[in-house]
Amino acid sequence: MVSNDQNKFQAIISHAKEYGFVFQSSEIYDGLSAVYDYGPWGSELKKNLRESWWNEMTRMHDNIVGIDAAIFMHPTTWKASGHVDNFSDPMIDNKDSKKRYRVDHLIEGFADQLVKEGKEKEAEELISKMEALLASNDFAELKKIIETLNIKCIVSGTCNWTDVRQFNLMFSTQIGSVAEEANEIYLRPETAQGIFVNFLNVQKTARMKIPFGIAQIGKAFRNEIVARQFIFRMREFEQMEMQFFIRPGTQKEWYEYWKAERMKWHQSLGMPSSDYRFHDHVKLAHYADAAVDIEYAFPIGWKEVEGIHSRTDFDLKSHQEYSGKKLQYFDNEINQNYVPYVIETSIGLDRMFLLILCHAYQEEKWTKEDGSEDSRVVLKIPAKIAPIKLAILPLLKKEGLPEIAREIMATCRHEFNCFYEEKDTIGKRYRRMDALGTPFCITVDHQTKDDQTVTIRYRDTMTQERIPIKGLVEFIKSKM
Ligand code: GAP
Repeated sequence: MVSNDQNKFQAIISHAKEYGFVFQSSEIYDGLSAVYDYGPWGSELKKNLRESWWNEMTRMHDNIVGIDAAIFMHPTTWKASGHVDNFSDPMIDNKDSKKRYRVDHLIEGFADQLVKEGKEKEAEELISKMEALLASNDFAELKKIIETLNIKCIVSGTCNWTDVRQFNLMFSTQIGSVAEEANEIYLRPETAQGIFVNFLNVQKTARMKIPFGIAQIGKAFRNEIVARQFIFRMREFEQMEMQFFIRPGTQKEWYEYWKAERMKWHQSLGMPSSDYRFHDHVKLAHYADAAVDIEYAFPIGWKEVEGIHSRTDFDLKSHQEYSGKKLQYFDNEINQNYVPYVIETSIGLDRMFLLILCHAYQEEKWTKEDGSEDSRVVLKIPAKIAPIKLAILPLLKKEGLPEIAREIMATCRHEFNCFYEEKDTIGKRYRRMDALGTPFCITVDHQTKDDQTVTIRYRDTMTQERIPIKGLVEFIKSKM
């Protein structure tokens, strides 16, 4: 287990707000719990992550295509998918405060405390016991654990608990006008079902042959009971999912293939492999015959960022039954009709965003040549996904320097996201760009007028060198 670093986590949350990455939703009305808005640099970073995933899945794989399905789906979808009956979490209420908790969150919180006290083995045993009880739906034993460990409600401070009960996580609303017969529909809790119901549409129109995949990025909604974890667990979030349709019996090899492929993508972004691990599911979702989480060492502990699920033919078969429409594929290599099996890769875009922030956020201190102390907060976001790639900074607001800088900006902005800034001292501007994660800054000074060179300053090392303006775009691109 990694140690819990709440201070670092709180610093990241404050930084994300102060520098325009993430804001609490409807903040002027005191916010809406577990709902967040992305600011100017947050939305850029999120877009870059989204693009990286989309390009990796669709452009880099001949046999994967994308779709963009609606959030609203026919209500029977969720009956067929099993979400109406099974998409629930065991919860417990404190009788004094009336506050509701997820049982696993309460017990995990206690385990985190044990880790802080150096009792890692006890914490691991507790988590394994909890996972086994959740897998067997043994709610009485789960309640007993909470009572035996004397886990208290943070609001009332008491251990006066109700029995453990299941609560469905789907949001519902009404579709249709008052005049029409209104129907209850759900906001989708996962994007996957939009792919399953379109399986034949896509297979036929895009002329796909098994094995093939359908990728999708979109919003999902869950009425989560949340323990203040910022954008780790939200009620409205974005998923990037891919369903890979395969011949029955080949699921084990494709499951291993996608485990490796997805881990490669994380590392291609520059994330160190030592911060990742696989965690096999003990309790399988109602649709899966195997499932694994890709976990990351967040400052709040090892947590899931992505899931790889072997979903069997559960979803297509079930939609076939409920809709009465055949969802089969004729495999002319073996001359057989079958309902394909599916391997799913599913990652939360917001959670990946948080992972990048946690990896990138660093507080640095050093002693300067004159003996004085200096420090900075820097986001070492990998250059290819950084919100701003290049800051263009004239040393002075006069003497023709802004004009040259504007000209450079006019050329570079077509190639990547640039930022022009002439306010404040150059040192302050560098610090601000460090805090936004801008990997390259160039300064236009008097020498530029003589020899058409600029100073480039590298975010990570803070080193500087002079380079010609001619060829600047190619130079930056090669560094990314
Ligand atoms: N279609 C399968 C599925 O939805 P999941 O494990 O429930 O599986 C997949 O979710 C991913 O979606 C998770 O690994 C996580 O990154 C993200 N995710 C799930 N619930 C989330 C929430 N409440 N807030 C933010 N991200 C969430």
